[in-house]
Amino acid sequence: MIYLKTPEEIEKVRRASDLVSRTLGEVAKWVAPGITTQRLDTIAREFILDNGGRPACLGYGGFPGTLCIEVNETVVHGFPGGYVLKEGDIVGTDCVVELDGYNGDSCYTFGVGEIDPATARLLRVTKESLYKGIGAARAGKRVGDISNAVQTFCERAGYSVVREMCGHGIGKSMHEDPEVPNYGRRGIGPLLKPNMTICIEPMINLGSKNIVIERDGWQCRTRDRKPSAHFEHTILITPDEPEILTTFRYIEEALGDKDVTFGIPGAE
Ligand code: MF3
Ligand code: CO
Repeated sequence: MIYLKTPEEIEKVRRASDLVSRTLGEVAKWVAPGITTQRLDTIAREFILDNGGRPACLGYGGFPGTLCIEVNETVVHGFPGGYVLKEGDIVGTDCVVELDGYNGDSCYTFGVGEIDPATARLLRVTKESLYKGIGAARAGKRVGDISNAVQTFCERAGYSVVREMCGHGIGKSMHEDPEVPNYGRRGIGPLLKPNMTICIEPMINLGSKNIVIERDGWQCRTRDRKPSAHFEHTILITPDEPEILTTFRYIEEALGDKDVTFGIPGAE
């Protein structure tokens, strides 16, 4: 069941999306060699609570963090903990905020200090693929058009698309219909209509597409242990251009010239 949102509901998703964006902007200030992922999680949780939101991942199905922490080969759903970030790592921070009963969801993958050029390119291509997907997210098109735009762009760059994890609708629940895969054929899947709010979130691997889920049932890594990147926006389908409800502006302001994805088209 795909819920079309009323103007009031859209405003609430917009405000939750702004808060999750500002939360990741706070996290961005602290990503550096020597910090633990637990510390990043605490910074995010306190910021959300200070601003009247609820960290929606915390306790969701038993998930133990405010942030999903995605270090290097971790694809999604990594736990915050005692791991100390080191120079050359990449770390994705995926966060959902509930505010006034509605959710916003965003993810950004950071380089920690200097990272190697091949990994930096993976981050740039994955971020750009998110904007390719958003560009295809127009009323009258179908979910498969988004999927195909992401897949085509990433595979042409030599990367592989994770199959098991998808984007999704969002609203009162963090996960609503439709599923938004990052691979698929143009012209298939649910029709996109104005006032749908959806999350597009490419999860792209440097090596093969295969993943392994750890015995905890959550933490997901690449089978070949090569790096994986993940970027996500919450967007609104409109009669014309999609509106991006989350923003990386706060992150980009915090990172300045430390951002290896600086200047990717579509970024604010
Ligand atoms: N941000 C994740 C997503 O994009 C949310 C799932 S994390 C969970 O769908 F812990 F809440 F499950
Ligand atoms: Co999501």
